[in-house]
Amino acid sequence: MKTDFVVIGSGIAGLNFALEASKYGKVTLITKKEIMDSNTNKAQGGIAAVLDRHDSTESHVEDTLKTGCYHNDIEAVEYLVKEGPKMIKKLLDYGTPFEQKSGVLKLTREGGHKCRRVAYSGDHTGHAIEKTLVDVVKENENIEVLEDTMALDLIVKDGKCYGVQYLQGKKVGELYGKAVILATGGAGYLFAKTTNPDIATADGLAMAARAGAKIEDMEFLQFHPTALSKNGHDPFLISEAVRGEGGKLKNSKGKRFMHKYHEMKELAPRDIVARAIAKEALNGPVTLDISHEDSEFLKTRFPTIYETLIEIGIDMTKEPIPVSPAAHYTCGGVKVNLDGETNIGNLYAFGEVSRTGVHGANRLASNSLLESIVFSNNIIKAVKNLEHEVEEVPVEKQEFSDFDAANLKKEIRQIMWDHVGLIRNEKGLKTSIQKLRSIEENLPKGVNKDLIEAKNMAIAGRIIAEAALKRKKSLGCHFRDDEI
Ligand code: FAD
Ligand code: SIN
Repeated sequence: MKTDFVVIGSGIAGLNFALEASKYGKVTLITKKEIMDSNTNKAQGGIAAVLDRHDSTESHVEDTLKTGCYHNDIEAVEYLVKEGPKMIKKLLDYGTPFEQKSGVLKLTREGGHKCRRVAYSGDHTGHAIEKTLVDVVKENENIEVLEDTMALDLIVKDGKCYGVQYLQGKKVGELYGKAVILATGGAGYLFAKTTNPDIATADGLAMAARAGAKIEDMEFLQFHPTALSKNGHDPFLISEAVRGEGGKLKNSKGKRFMHKYHEMKELAPRDIVARAIAKEALNGPVTLDISHEDSEFLKTRFPTIYETLIEIGIDMTKEPIPVSPAAHYTCGGVKVNLDGETNIGNLYAFGEVSRTGVHGANRLASNSLLESIVFSNNIIKAVKNLEHEVEEVPVEKQEFSDFDAANLKKEIRQIMWDHVGLIRNEKGLKTSIQKLRSIEENLPKGVNKDLIEAKNMAIAGRIIAEAALKRKKSLGCHFRDDEI
């Protein structure tokens, strides 16, 4: 198959790129499950931008840098913040139902932000954005969407990308294009406890690594402080906005503790809150309590969280919610410049799979949806590719395999949680690298969805562990308990 733009992934980055690029050429977007399956669809809190007249570009830039421990690329941060308000307007124009009062956007507050800066739609902002973009994409005649179509490997020769090899059912095929866009999201599902859905297996990152792309900052894997902690239940995210609207963290004695760790208390940057919770949890379960707020307000402000908790017997309007940290966001990724260009010709990366330099050592809350839309909107360089013809290069055909890799994925997720989690040290990191390498080396030949995901998870997991081993001192969301 041939097209102009090959887009891999149907989250906010892939959908927004597709919409922009469709103005110039034909887009073929492939996505490994259904079109709505993405981290974007699960996002709760909102999307940050300077939207209040009392707020300023300087203030958003400073909060982003401070949370990122000044490990960020300042040029990228300034670009992100400057473009932010325009992107919110764009999402509103497409029809995203951000909450408003008398025509003015309502804003919430999250950790690390000095002021209310986050536009939202209940506690399902990501779903509101994803659904809006999907509806617009489906109307667009220049965009073809192929669901249940999994990218296996990038087709790269002599430092240039020509397309992607994909799996559809049991069939392996090739899709060639003038520009190839990785928008495959992050690596949260590499960890046994995560807020991410099962699509987040770092496929794009591993494919890019196999193709020789530069990858940076992978040690900065962010753990969200407040995921549900109840035996037998997934670590469903309890949005930071719950703390933004007054939720208090309490230890097993029912006492608040965040004042001991940071002046911003519950709204300190995520890494600090996550480690504080882990420390307090050594003496018994930690809870998040917002039951002092009006119950009708809570039910309308956090409908998804309220309903999900009620289903498992927790009424957040009356009782505290048991919480603990879970893997959440990949700050590092495939290194790109402001135009999304990687070091491989014709290959671009946008969204969570990319490393733009915006997040530094720790991402500021609600800056991720913003990063994904701001950078995927900058398609100038990708459009330049239209000047040449689509070229096809021969590839080695991969064969379908019946091998069941489900248990391998489980094993990798446990290794990552045990040794590459919130608190790391040399011994654990070395153990994980050795185990992940052994899994990778012993994988059978052939392809199927689980088998490819297991391979990608082993490779990406090793890359995270190696980066964490190399950085001997703690910084942001990378924490070593053995630093000298
Ligand atoms: P995604 O939305 O993850 O999309 C990736 C796409 O690539 C998916 O469609 C996937 O199926 C596809 N894909 C992956 N591998 C392949 C393959 N091999 N072949 C084909 N397709 C593939 N950020 C905020 O800014 N604010 C929030 O409030 C917020 N809340 C969050 C809450 C939760 C529970 C989670 C998990 C994340 C949250 N985030 C939030 C982070 C944010 O949602 C993500 O960083 C962002 O949505 C990433 O968008 P993306 O387009 O890069 O990737
Ligand atoms: C949340 O709602 O707490 C998630 C926000 C984010 O990841 O930015």
